[in-house]
Amino acid sequence: MSYSMFSMFKVPPIALNREYAVELCNVSTTYFGSRTPAIRNVNLRIRYGEFILITGPNGAGKTTLLETILGLLTPSSGTVKVFGHDVSKRAKLIRRYCSYVPQDFMKEPYEVFTVYEVIKQGLVTCHYRPKDVDKEIREVSKLLGIEDLLTRPIGSLSGGQQQRVFIARALIRRPYLLLLDEPFSNLDRDSRTELAEVLSKLCTDSGTTIVMVSHDLSTIPRACTRVVSMINGSIVSISEVK
Ligand SMILES: Nc1ncnc2c1ncn2[C@@H]1O[C@H](COP(=O)(O)OP(=O)(O)OP(=O)(O)O)[C@@H](O)[C@H]1O
Ligand SMILES: [Mg+2]
Repeated sequence: MSYSMFSMFKVPPIALNREYAVELCNVSTTYFGSRTPAIRNVNLRIRYGEFILITGPNGAGKTTLLETILGLLTPSSGTVKVFGHDVSKRAKLIRRYCSYVPQDFMKEPYEVFTVYEVIKQGLVTCHYRPKDVDKEIREVSKLLGIEDLLTRPIGSLSGGQQQRVFIARALIRRPYLLLLDEPFSNLDRDSRTELAEVLSKLCTDSGTTIVMVSHDLSTIPRACTRVVSMINGSIVSISEVK
């Protein structure tokens, strides 16, 4: 299916300055109370429409990198720009045009929000036409194969099903920049392949810039352009995908 961008949004988009969607220049981020930075001297530029895979062992700094890009963590040194804007100054505005699917998303069994409501929460900071919401929720849930789960409480779903719901919540925002932290972690092999294709289509058809963290290099999405490997807080290699 085609999932065209911005159809229901009323506001003009943020000015997309410069040729890079993301620019990190000598970025280090240190957690409060920690002596060593969790990421150090990171330099990375991501073009609009690129699909970047970030890989590396546990503790390498992958999640820290994503959260530094979004301005959820403040770097101790260096600069981060998203859409050409300095994240330290414009994080709130920038985040309206980004979606983030965090690594730890599992909801407790007693969580009562329905799948429908959880997907709708993705629109909270967006200016949208209310009459389009129902159609959009149905469309994105179909894209992720969860259309039969819309009335179920989120806490009653399996890990893989919940993962799809949170990806749907991220996609309904029609982000310019989509950040996903281990989105395949609870999915079986067929589901991983299916989701990799959904994300690839989003990237090639809508021009969405995607930064995805994944341990799983057996499923490299078709649209992926580069694989960034991190160890111990540093980028150790960046390889082009042919
Ligand atoms: N909230 C925190 N406070 C202090 N240190 C932290 C915090 N979160 C992460 N760290 C440390 O920062 C480093 C990088 O962690 P990060 O979560 O970015 O790694 P990761 O590559 O995402 O690992 P994983 O594959 O396990 O998700 C680790 O040494 C970790 O212990
Ligand atoms: Mg992580």
